Amino acid sequence: MSTYTDLRFPKGFLWGCATAAHQVEGNNTNNNWWQWEQEGGHIKGGDVSGIACDHYNRFDSDFALAQELGHNAHRLSVEWSRIEPEEGQWDMKEVDHYRQVMESLHRHGMVPMVTLHHFTNPLWFERQGGWLNPQAPDLIARFSGFIAKELGDLVPFWFTINEPMIVVIGSYLFGAEPPGQSDWGAAMTASRHLLQAHGAMYRAVKESTSHNPQVGPVLAMLYIEPYDPNSEDDRNAAQLADLLMNEYFLAGIDTGTLGPPAGQGEDAPGLKDSWDFIGINYYSRHRMAHDQPLDTAGLPPPDAELTLMGYEVFPEGFYRQLMRLKKYGPPVYVTENGISTKDDTQRCRHLLRHLAEMHRALQEGTDIRGYLHWTLIDNFEWTEGHQQWFGMVAMEPGTLKRRPHPSAYLFREIARGNAVTAAMLKEYVG
Ligand code: FCB
Repeated sequence: MSTYTDLRFPKGFLWGCATAAHQVEGNNTNNNWWQWEQEGGHIKGGDVSGIACDHYNRFDSDFALAQELGHNAHRLSVEWSRIEPEEGQWDMKEVDHYRQVMESLHRHGMVPMVTLHHFTNPLWFERQGGWLNPQAPDLIARFSGFIAKELGDLVPFWFTINEPMIVVIGSYLFGAEPPGQSDWGAAMTASRHLLQAHGAMYRAVKESTSHNPQVGPVLAMLYIEPYDPNSEDDRNAAQLADLLMNEYFLAGIDTGTLGPPAGQGEDAPGLKDSWDFIGINYYSRHRMAHDQPLDTAGLPPPDAELTLMGYEVFPEGFYRQLMRLKKYGPPVYVTENGISTKDDTQRCRHLLRHLAEMHRALQEGTDIRGYLHWTLIDNFEWTEGHQQWFGMVAMEPGTLKRRPHPSAYLFREIARGNAVTAAMLKEYVG
């Protein structure tokens, strides 16, 4: 039997949940994902985002619930296609909507943490070639500067692009996400533009508001290992996958250059050190075999605990990726971590095991400042449709009624006490 001690977190630590506009708001009709859903054949069960959680109308009561659940921060995204419905045209009604959203967060005692791009592109941007368009970095930087100027007094934290390399593989390499391309050359072009866009967005936000905004990336830090550590081919495959998924962006921002595999070390103006913090999303380990694609399920060992997404539960990978960020300098926010499951006890155990690994990284010197769980309420899970359950709060289909799981109250205890207690670990981890 293990003996546990209480794991305390630093004063001022941020605790909350993360969401994304398209997954929760409902009726985001003017972006590439909506269109992709209508085409049919792309989303599990023919699902569409539709009204989603109707969060666009219910944000105030959702934030009241999050407050009741002990959160002191909330990560959300603003929907570019609402704010700039046509190129260069700003919809001030939508700007006002997001002002009300940010004000509601403040009223409910939560720090707003805003993602500028979370997977969806306005249709006009998509029609110009999306991330393959050489103008893409300028176009999104202009939007970023505009909205940061409008909301800068209310938003202390800005994230540029959510999981840029997931956009690359989903949209341009494996073709499962809009525009459904499978082309290595296109994937490399998009990778260069996304990294340049990040730098341009960072500068645009910094220059648009005098409220000293903190700006940084959100990276999906997959923990990648060779399927067979004795196979040189698998080791090489793992190394290439890690270079593409993790190292390219980290090294890019660190050095200010477009490195391999998408570049040859070209300088990117404004890119160097374009991070006041690093946002990390962590879900799973991915074991790479040289003859298999970088599949999202990642070839888990036969005895592994799995989530409903098919991901392997591998908390140690979280610790290792957090430790990897230590050398760069900026503080770290965990911007996503969570599990799709219908067994809430599994969610409690998953949460505690990951928080214990996060605490270990903190003890060993990674400057971690917050943890945003994915997610508050069950929502539209992209190509998986409405058939994944990541919420600490369940949503009743049809009525959209919110029903907090026991894990939501466990998380409240952690957030309010700013600690994971030995008793919690004993009860759920055993
Ligand atoms: C991440 C996405 C987020 C959500 C979770 C489950 O990759 O950023 O929108 O889909 O996975």
